Amino acid sequence: MEHRIRHYELEQGALEIQYIEEFFGEFPRKKTASDILARLAGRHHCILMAEGALPDDPSVVVPVSYKVGHELHAHETEPKLADLVARLHGAVRFEGRRILYSWIGGTRRDWRGQGHFRALTEEQEAWALSQGFDEVVVKTKNRFFEMRATLDHLQFEVIKYERNHSDNHESKVYLSKRLSRDLVSRHRSRRTVVKAPA
Ligand SMILES: CC(C)(COP(=O)(O)OP(=O)(O)OC[C@H]1O[C@@H](n2cnc3c(N)ncnc32)[C@H](O)[C@@H]1OP(=O)(O)O)[C@@H](O)C(=O)NCCC(=O)NCCS
Repeated sequence: MEHRIRHYELEQGALEIQYIEEFFGEFPRKKTASDILARLAGRHHCILMAEGALPDDPSVVVPVSYKVGHELHAHETEPKLADLVARLHGAVRFEGRRILYSWIGGTRRDWRGQGHFRALTEEQEAWALSQGFDEVVVKTKNRFFEMRATLDHLQFEVIKYERNHSDNHESKVYLSKRLSRDLVSRHRSRRTVVKAPA
């Protein structure tokens, strides 16, 4: 299957993410366009979306999967990111290296299991390598079984497990993947990438 991916500029991408987030009913805290802008403005980032045909009308193509990553610096001032960097201490080496934090992403339920997330992940890795990044870091929770299984298939390595002592479902799992030409040469998805106009 050939995956069709759009690489968005910030403003349009923020609106598209707000739109697709509405389809993730299982997650109560949906990201709005202003959340996206607040996090990504002034920060090196990559907004990717895969498109798919509607099952009952294949002539209509809609965004079905998305993935957003941004640079994470050793010295962050935004409290959430400063906290993340502190938690990654000892698990990720920042000095002299560029780290991409794979922040948010998902695939709409009706389009899961069709390789969209693999295609986005591989495209994010190819982009990140071309931009000089050394490693992609991602965070999930113990209870997100689908995401954990997917990250396993995508060969992310666990670099830290942070136990939540009152509820192990809420424990955090940090994973990463080191980027290299060799890694990108082993990518499996077939994809066409279109730059969406700003
Ligand atoms: C996790 C998620 C993004 C996967 O998206 P997807 O488009 O269905 O994934 P893909 O079809 O590209 O699959 C990628 C790989 O993961 C595997 N995979 C996907 N879902 C899986 C599941 N539920 N169990 C086991 N493996 C799974 C696929 O087999 C594939 O591996 P392969 O390429 O080696 O065959 C999607 O299920 C989702 O959005 N889930 C909810 C999001 C979520 O949990 N968010 C929590 C916050 S971190």
